[in-house]
Amino acid sequence: MRNKLSQDNVSYVVNNTGLADCVRYLINAADLELFFTENPALFNALINKSKSVAADAIISGNEHSLYELHRSLFELYNMNIREPRPGQDDNHSSAFLMSVRNTLEGYVEQQESKQVEKFDVEHLDGQDFLNHIKEIWKSNSTPEHEIFHFMEHKANRAQFNTYFKNDYMLNIRFYDLIVYSLIGIDEEVRPEVAENFWDEVGKGNPAHTHVRLYKNIFDELGLSLDESMLSDELNWQALEGYNLLMRHVINRKNYFKSLGSLAITELADPQQYERFVAGCKRVGLGENSQLLQYYEEHISVDTIHGDGWLNNVILPLITKYPEAKQDIIFGCYVRLNTSKAYWDSLYQKLLAQESSTSAIQYTPSGEALILS
Ligand SMILES: [Fe+2]
Repeated sequence: MRNKLSQDNVSYVVNNTGLADCVRYLINAADLELFFTENPALFNALINKSKSVAADAIISGNEHSLYELHRSLFELYNMNIREPRPGQDDNHSSAFLMSVRNTLEGYVEQQESKQVEKFDVEHLDGQDFLNHIKEIWKSNSTPEHEIFHFMEHKANRAQFNTYFKNDYMLNIRFYDLIVYSLIGIDEEVRPEVAENFWDEVGKGNPAHTHVRLYKNIFDELGLSLDESMLSDELNWQALEGYNLLMRHVINRKNYFKSLGSLAITELADPQQYERFVAGCKRVGLGENSQLLQYYEEHISVDTIHGDGWLNNVILPLITKYPEAKQDIIFGCYVRLNTSKAYWDSLYQKLLAQESSTSAIQYTPSGEALILS
């Protein structure tokens, strides 16, 4: 059922609800374009609300506003990638919603460019440039983050469940990121990205798509696959990291940044996952099942994809467009920054959970034993 717009209810939503609720309401509205065309003052109020939330988030660092900002962007990006349903996507190309997105992105990008400096990479060519990316990755290596030490050696089953739920949205959407990375790209680099895509879809086997493999974990652990519940699990740092990759692939002006952010993702996954899988085995996850197939698959394929992305995508493109090197390195750094913020916040969430679940132990089959 689509929301029917009137001056009264739009005025109420703009003035009395959080930005994310307001955006969600408008995404699902009937005749949105006509309404705002006829009511420009209400559209101005919407843009002013977006600016004020974004400024409070980015300039003042208000955590609540950071959540509203990133949740709103999450909803707006979701319009591009959610599964089509009859009559659902009438506002996909709304100029008004696009203006809200551009306003919010403007604040986020302004903040990013302050965090990341200009790089002295113009003189680096060919393999030297690729080695520079590897050095950036190694010196900011996320597998060394304490969360992976924690998952490997200390986390309990409940904490693993929390980890899976927090990682769900981005893992499920990696397919869409790769699809976006294929559209209209240089012919020379298509085979490498297509190979990545082919792995995402299980080399044609529906039982082995990466989305299916990740969902198998949830099925086996009895965790809900309700995506609106799983989205609500995400804090602003998780949303920020997810949105970064979406913004890079959806907005073409960021194409070369996406080469860097995706390179870091491919490079980082295998080592992170090795520690994670060791932790899963420690608590008895996947001993007699295919539960860890998603992670084990990525340990092997992402090692290949990481090198392939550098040699077969980035190398030919920087040879053709040397001026793109700044953006590629920028993409690497901002991805590392958002990953670190995400892992920091998830680690704190798991530690907070520890005290509340310390009275629960789990049998190897995953049944909870409540200890008195
Ligand atoms: Fe994947």
